[in-house]
Amino acid sequence: MRSPATFPSPRLSTPLRYLVLAVLLVLLVVWQYLVNLVQEHSLPTFDSLLAPPGDHPIDELISRAEKDFDTLIATDSKILADSAAAYRKRRGRHPPPGFGDWFKFAQDNNAIIVEEFWDQIYHDLEPFWALPATQIRKDAWDYEMTINVRDHKATAGSDWFWTQIWLDLIRTIEHLLPDMDIALNAMDEPRIVVPWEDLVDHMKEAQTTRHMVDVGDVVTGFQKLPACNEDPESNRKPSEKNWEATSFSPPTGPFWDIVRCGCPLTSLVRQGETMTDFDHAPYISRHLGSPHSHQGYVANYTLSSEICHQPDLQGLNGIFVEPISIQTTRVLFPLFGGSKLSVNNEILLPAPVYWNEEERYTGGADHGGPWADKTSEAIWRGVATGGKSRENTWRAFQRHRFVAMNNGTKLSLAQNWTALPANFELPDNTIVAQREGRLGEWVSSWSNMGFVDLFCEPPPPESHPRNSCPYTSPHFEVLDGLKMAEQFDKKYLPDIDGNSFSGRYLGFLRSTSLPIKATLWREWHDSRLVAWKHFVPMDNRYSDWLGIMQYFLGYEGETESVVAHDDAAERIASSGKEWAEKVLRKEDMQVYVLRLLLEYARISNERREKMGWVEDLISGKSH
Ligand SMILES: *[C@@H]1O[C@H](CO)[C@@H](O)[C@H](O)[C@H]1NC(C)=O
Ligand SMILES: *[C@@H]1O[C@H](CO)[C@@H](O)[C@H](O)[C@H]1NC(C)=O
Ligand SMILES: *[C@@H]1O[C@H](CO)[C@@H](O)[C@H](O)[C@H]1NC(C)=O
Repeated sequence: MRSPATFPSPRLSTPLRYLVLAVLLVLLVVWQYLVNLVQEHSLPTFDSLLAPPGDHPIDELISRAEKDFDTLIATDSKILADSAAAYRKRRGRHPPPGFGDWFKFAQDNNAIIVEEFWDQIYHDLEPFWALPATQIRKDAWDYEMTINVRDHKATAGSDWFWTQIWLDLIRTIEHLLPDMDIALNAMDEPRIVVPWEDLVDHMKEAQTTRHMVDVGDVVTGFQKLPACNEDPESNRKPSEKNWEATSFSPPTGPFWDIVRCGCPLTSLVRQGETMTDFDHAPYISRHLGSPHSHQGYVANYTLSSEICHQPDLQGLNGIFVEPISIQTTRVLFPLFGGSKLSVNNEILLPAPVYWNEEERYTGGADHGGPWADKTSEAIWRGVATGGKSRENTWRAFQRHRFVAMNNGTKLSLAQNWTALPANFELPDNTIVAQREGRLGEWVSSWSNMGFVDLFCEPPPPESHPRNSCPYTSPHFEVLDGLKMAEQFDKKYLPDIDGNSFSGRYLGFLRSTSLPIKATLWREWHDSRLVAWKHFVPMDNRYSDWLGIMQYFLGYEGETESVVAHDDAAERIASSGKEWAEKVLRKEDMQVYVLRLLLEYARISNERREKMGWVEDLISGKSH
């Protein structure tokens, strides 16, 4: 036998073998990098939808949300000193007087205490540090609808049902509140848009008041106010509001012209034109959603509800076309309300429907059965609200758009060119059923949506049924209403804005079904919910809707199929429910409002820069 040493082996020498291996490895890494690069920068494509599980952009959004949520709750404070420290770190000031009692109240009510949960309060109140405290007090006291707190008793001069509900909420914490006057917005729509330039000035000035006063100089109490019927500042005039009412018919100028002023000078909305003609299918510019999207799906939910980079929204939501009622001012004053747009400057309270827990919004005690017992359908019933939808404007209204694009008949007619869509667009061929020419059939198989009232402006003539409408009746059938509890028999619950925010959202979150939410409205709870962890976010254009449903439901086609992600849907539905039961309880609303009102009372006081709670810093005291 020849020894291997005498004949060179056909195999590579050891160093060479390692070299080849190394080259192969490098090639593999480069290949992977290129694949990633292509995926990162492409819009939702054929490939991204057909990719094996784990590669869909929604998979990535979900796993990112899990991480964000874990980071958020890792900062939960269990002791007062930690909570005060977290406060100082995040807010740059001492906590307000009363903070110790606030913490105790929160803990006694088993609230989860994560400083970020109160970010909205600071977003809302910060500009007020730039207004004189006397002006804040005068404007609040002078407003037409107020709740007044004196000697730990809250009262209201008005019987308006919202005022009474808010009064009921505030009474539950009145024993912990200093004297104050709280001005309330009684309208559905928000009322203050401070021009962006003015707000920047206010924020700069507010910044100069942000500092940590020496512990020895801190003022630890609140002031008392004169009785409610006595003018607290008789030398000062209330600020001149110059209320502007806008309407489409008769035309007094679009609300969008006011909204725009709340946007930065360099933004698309501020620089762009205002639309005045809505008598056509809406213009939907999907690329305007890209700053807040990942491959066509909402990746930054907060940004998706900001208006300034999305000028096409003026033709996609009734609030911008013609609100039911609108009366706005550009002057900052302390007005409290239940919801607002990103450009508004109200101070948010939990909306009355949430505190009141009306059954028609929440479903009462019924939150739906187990996921496995539900049908794989998406359900929506509602009134055709959004504002005053007229014969020449209704195509721009969000609920009309959403209901139409979920109507299988309309989709089929559009796909086979029998009838062009009146108020929506077909997807850009990303949906497999669409490529197979079966879009309408597929959507009909899981979508159950429609209006219960066509809500018209002007209202239909006497000869018509009450819930009909001469110009939208040909497009929409009026369906019977469905109780919330019956809707919870379906897995998917899209949530679409009405005249303002959608009051059913809390009920949806608490249900065992999955809320899929598109909104332009800000609410008290925004910083405690994580998109893709507790609910599914949707773009206000609804251009991602069918892709979201294809991801969850999957699709068995003749030529292609897409895997379903029913388990992912179930997981989000159940984490949303579980989380809502922990941080969106009535107790959490009380804890939020108590923190808010302590801050508000401090801002309304001349000594505000020195006021604070520093018991944890005083030596000899331990907590
Ligand atoms: C999301 O958008 C907001 C602006 O609305 C921004 O402040 C925030 O940093 C963004 N978040 C991420 C993760 O990019
Ligand atoms: C188009 O679709 C509609 C609704 O499904 C159907 O009734 C009609 O026959 C179709 N027309 C053509 C030309 O295929
Ligand atoms: C669906 O669209 C068809 C055709 O436009 C219309 O007749 C029907 O009323 C619509 N259905 C609903 C529930 O609105």
